[in-house]
Amino acid sequence: MHTIIEPFRIKSVEPIEMSTAEQRAEWVAEAGYNLFKLPAQRVLIDLLTDSGTAAMSAAQWAAMMAADESYAGARSWFRFEETVRRVFGFAHVVPTHQGRAAERILFSCTVGAGDVVPNNGHFDTTRANIEYLGGEALDLPCAEAADLTTDSPFKGNLDVQALEKLLIDRADAVPLVMLTITNNSAGGQPVSMANIRAVAELARRFGKPFYIDACRFAENAWLIKQREPGYADLPVPEIVREMFSYADGCTMSAKKDALVNIGGFLCTRDPSLAAREKDLLILTEGFPTYGGLAGRDLDAIAVGLDEVLAEDYLRYRIISTAYVVDHLHRAGVPVLRPAGGHAVYLDAGRFLPHIPPLEYPGQSLAIELYRHAGIRGVEIGTVMAGRDPTTHQERPAVHELVRLALPRRVYTQSHMDYVVEATLEVFGHKESLRGYRITDEPPFLRHFSATFAPLPTR
Ligand code: F0G
Repeated sequence: MHTIIEPFRIKSVEPIEMSTAEQRAEWVAEAGYNLFKLPAQRVLIDLLTDSGTAAMSAAQWAAMMAADESYAGARSWFRFEETVRRVFGFAHVVPTHQGRAAERILFSCTVGAGDVVPNNGHFDTTRANIEYLGGEALDLPCAEAADLTTDSPFKGNLDVQALEKLLIDRADAVPLVMLTITNNSAGGQPVSMANIRAVAELARRFGKPFYIDACRFAENAWLIKQREPGYADLPVPEIVREMFSYADGCTMSAKKDALVNIGGFLCTRDPSLAAREKDLLILTEGFPTYGGLAGRDLDAIAVGLDEVLAEDYLRYRIISTAYVVDHLHRAGVPVLRPAGGHAVYLDAGRFLPHIPPLEYPGQSLAIELYRHAGIRGVEIGTVMAGRDPTTHQERPAVHELVRLALPRRVYTQSHMDYVVEATLEVFGHKESLRGYRITDEPPFLRHFSATFAPLPTR
């Protein structure tokens, strides 16, 4: 059989409120042409993020009912700790309310002013937490990452030569080395096992701890199984164990590959670091056996971490993303290739060549996908890049993208068909799309709250 079916049946449904293009045109204008400001009820297919938006399984809901809400030493905690240790292989597990809390605690213990943290691609919150401590977040993506159209299998890789040069030149300033798997900033592209191993070896040679940002670890492991010679016959949990065997620790947003709506954790092999992290945890997150989460959240994560490693799930998950990417590509729509894990990235720069970067082609495309079809994605381009912090000048982004992130287990094949059809229709009338100007913007992270106005047609 060629048809890959969703490997689940639906027991509980949430209605989508249907709307017309006329209504949505009014609503998006009311929202200042910023899709973050739309009530979610006014969205038909919400692809704003894959974070915290997963549908939980019956087994997860059942575990939540049976959870233990004791303040200290709850049964739910021990189940969570056992699962994280077994899946990732780290001795010390620190629970946090989401990924950025794990980042803040790790960096507070390791990063100082003037330090530089290399990564294949820092996510916004990772970068912001390093910069907040006076450090520099340095992206070292591999060369292939810059080309949106080539079919290289591991565009998420880190540039190992650049890392070696950094470590030779500025070893004293580097407190730790990081890899983000999959690389969200580079289009959800995976990192190969060979690259993980090479980065770990370099870090070890220079005596630096090596950390993994593990948010989408299962999707990365599946893509290694599919694309890297030697891994096709290994079970996914074994691939995961090997990936993390090279690392000294990890940060995790459970809102992605733990299939839950909230949660995270921080792991290390170093008992004295773990003790310092737990001291900070108590200050802002909570006691070390719950860390800002309810017992029920810990149980849901424990179940989710095993469910996400099921091959039927991962096959369906990655094929859903590839299905949309391949259909759009075959129809001539510029889209980042090859398909990665969690999202489809439309190349708005090539989709709308008549709109210059400072008239925000990504914003224009995202607004039109919403107006035309009720699909909510997010601009990852010049709007999100913001202004230079010293000169306050706008800086055109390297790529003008629209990310359509796919929530886990939420939408079906017919929803994906709708997304393909809608995108093709918008592609069909792309010349009619206009640029935008910003009418109001906050001093930083402007994409969340800026307001826009359409520019007149030329
Ligand atoms: N690291 C990566 C690679 C991420 O993609 C995210 C979140 C985080 C860390 C932070 O985790 O949200 O739990 O604090 N990414 C979401 C997204 C928000 O839409 O890509 P968090």
